[in-house]
Amino acid sequence: KHAPHNADDVLESLPRDRPSGCPFDPPEGLAEIRGQRPLTRLVYGDGHVGWLATGHAVVRAVLADRRFSSRYELMHFPVAMPGLPAQIPPAQVGDITGIDPPEHTRYRKLLTGKFTVRRMRALTERVEQITAERLDAMQRLGPPVDLVEAYAQPIPALMICELLGVPYDRLEEFLGLVAASGDRDLTPEEQFDAFAKIQEFVRELVPAKRAKPTDDLLSDLTTTELTDQELAGIGGLLLAAGLDTTANILALGTFALLRNPEQIAALREGDADRAVEELLRYLSIAHTGMRSALEDVEIDGTLIRAGETVTLSIQAANRDPRRFTDPDALDLRRHAAGHLSFGHGIHQCLGQQLARVEMRVAFPALFNRFPGLRLAVAPEEVPLRGDMNIYGVHGLPVTWDGA
Ligand code: HEM
Repeated sequence: KHAPHNADDVLESLPRDRPSGCPFDPPEGLAEIRGQRPLTRLVYGDGHVGWLATGHAVVRAVLADRRFSSRYELMHFPVAMPGLPAQIPPAQVGDITGIDPPEHTRYRKLLTGKFTVRRMRALTERVEQITAERLDAMQRLGPPVDLVEAYAQPIPALMICELLGVPYDRLEEFLGLVAASGDRDLTPEEQFDAFAKIQEFVRELVPAKRAKPTDDLLSDLTTTELTDQELAGIGGLLLAAGLDTTANILALGTFALLRNPEQIAALREGDADRAVEELLRYLSIAHTGMRSALEDVEIDGTLIRAGETVTLSIQAANRDPRRFTDPDALDLRRHAAGHLSFGHGIHQCLGQQLARVEMRVAFPALFNRFPGLRLAVAPEEVPLRGDMNIYGVHGLPVTWDGA
């Protein structure tokens, strides 16, 4: 049992600085907060006094509770973000992460039925092909290469192309736009322009698939009651949710393995499914979630009032010693099931099976092809995505012997 709240227990700001020695650990201060009080008051960027949940049981309980909403327009943001409107606009059509039942239930039913076992199996074969092609390309290029550009980004990008059925003669154009939208060497306007062109690309794809369906998820979805506008929104969501996430776990995961070389043997010889779950838990790249209370709710003996926002620290929950033994150790042989890296409850990640397939194939293939893989720069020089919604690395220069 934890001490009851009193007025002094308010956190003035959300800890966000990662420890300099280990960029894979959650920001400094979070472990102490979790140890003292897994659900604590927090002052938000706009002055709202909401909550911060850091304990595994509490984060899970909030995610499972329908009395908490995902609607964007009800959220306060834990940190001040310049340029953020005082009133957050509601989710755009098709963006199911920012809506509640019953609307959410309707979309989710239509979508879940299309992520079939048969489709996922076919995608496994494609991941294997794509991975082998990328490794051949890396070998041709010779060391050093940026693993993000050469491997971690193209694999999920090509897999989303498979889901959406992007025609082969437009793949290069599409991949170019995806790369440009996240290219830090371009101006923000150029990046935004590329992003707008991607959205336009997906919008144009929908009527084409309706007119001439092919064997892909988007064509399948055109046979449902969904309108073109809804389908374009869903296509955009799959891109937004499936690209950066998987790309960053592949790159950050490789970085973590290179820093824990004794784990590479476990990856190559051990149970690949276990290895994948542990990397998901340990890295917690989607580090924070948010919900707002629709009514007064009591969680773990604490009253959260209607209208208050709860920030859910997925990364703190995944390192909770009350849930996982020796939580700060990366141990690919452990049972990491029960981690919250894909969320929990009705919004739990729709693409999790695809993400798992990509990880299960891409990590061992990389270390089997390049057993001597190592960083081409000092670990401190790897550029980290410190302030981004999805944690990871901007680039990962790697090298190997025997070119
Ligand atoms: C939702 C993480 C890959 C599509 C989520 C949520 C998390 C998450 C934490 C829950 C958000 C919330 O409750 O507010 C991840 C991670 C990934 C990954 C860590 C990779 C390692 C993917 C992929 C796709 C995808 C590959 C698509 C192909 C979605 C969608 C939702 C979602 C559509 C919204 C579901 C809903 O609101 O009902 N993801 N994701 N994700 N994810 Fe993923």
